Amino acid sequence: MIRPDRWLPGCCLLMLVWLVGCHRAEPPRFVFSQVPENLPSELQQAVQDELIKQTGTFLQPKLLLAEGETHQDLLRGQGVYQERCVQCHGVSGDGNGPFARYLYPRPRDYRKGIFKFASTPYGYRPLRDDLVRTVKQGVRGTSMPGFSLLPEADVQSVVDYVLTLGRRGELESQIIEMADSDSAVNTEEVKSDLIPAVLTRWSEAEVAEVFPVSPQPRLTTDSVERGKKAFLSKGCSKCHGDDGRGQTAENRGADAWGHQTRAADLTSGMLHGGNRPLDVYRRIFNGINGTPMPSFANALKNEPETVWDLVAYVLSLTDQRRHGNIPTPGAIKPYVPAK
Ligand code: HEC
Ligand code: HEC
Repeated sequence: MIRPDRWLPGCCLLMLVWLVGCHRAEPPRFVFSQVPENLPSELQQAVQDELIKQTGTFLQPKLLLAEGETHQDLLRGQGVYQERCVQCHGVSGDGNGPFARYLYPRPRDYRKGIFKFASTPYGYRPLRDDLVRTVKQGVRGTSMPGFSLLPEADVQSVVDYVLTLGRRGELESQIIEMADSDSAVNTEEVKSDLIPAVLTRWSEAEVAEVFPVSPQPRLTTDSVERGKKAFLSKGCSKCHGDDGRGQTAENRGADAWGHQTRAADLTSGMLHGGNRPLDVYRRIFNGINGTPMPSFANALKNEPETVWDLVAYVLSLTDQRRHGNIPTPGAIKPYVPAK
């Protein structure tokens, strides 16, 4: 005979397990950029549909690839990203993860395709290797950690995932522009014009690596002295202050992502873009993308040795605290994050 007092408790337990234990959380979704409000809702929908068609969804992401490019396992990259990057950089790579509002500088919004620490000229996309290096080393003096202990395959696949999010964002803004000007989204044109336009910028960067114009000389106290003079006469001190600390009242600017920024305190002992002479050379010669730090490639093209003198001076400034030269506090108030 079937006795309810025997099977009922078991059934209830099973129901409970099903409800609590097996209930899966909804997977995250990519958020879409703010589509211009003047677009009618069906065009906004068309933009989103087209973007999904070309670059997939969270569960099935697709990396836009230039000819000859390949990629690593994107779902593996997504796993690493969700575990280690999303808190700051956000599910869609918009730099707006839950921690972002407490951080200065803000985590990178990848969707503009602009990256600061590149070995390519000002205004260019970075090399893929630049992104790999940043992920391994982190950005010293900011909250961007280094992931040097991650297995190589994790680093490579998370970089491809960063590229997936970045190129998706670049394409999105292009499709929005198309919808705005043509009042329609044309898949054929997206494929024949917009996607190649996004990809060309990445492939032209891969062959634009900047190498120093003259080989690195020995950096001596004489080069530091010459560098100091150049620093004061070539306009560096206008932003970085005479002592390189950036403590001038005018030192306020905005970056390409719409956040406050200011010229680096070169005495902080923490060069964000790395402290090899070559890193500092590239920051000065190439400038820093997305920020007011200009390229001096043109201004100094006839005096390549001055760039190395400036490198020597910047490195000596960076080192000064270690030698007991602690600068006095300056005029600039600490950064106050937006509410
Ligand atoms: C605690 C917050 C935080 C975490 C976690 C984090 N980042 Fe960042 N990331 C930042 C910040 C802040 C910056 C901007 C630094 C700057 O502007 O100087 C940044 C910048 C970057 C950049 C751009 C560098 C450039 O040249 O412009 C890349 C690429 C990047 N992060 C990738 C990653 C990846 C991949 C992960 C996970 C494996 C990750 N980040 C985890 C905070 C974080
Ligand atoms: C128009 C203002 C401006 C001028 C002029 C300028 N800089 Fe900068 N510089 C900046 C800003 C802003 C940053 C910080 C960029 C960022 O957000 O990481 C910076 C960053 C740097 C860095 C990178 C520091 C790091 O953390 O890696 C170096 C090196 C540097 N500047 C050297 C120079 C030198 C040398 C000159 C003169 C030849 C110069 N700058 C002229 C605004 C300026």
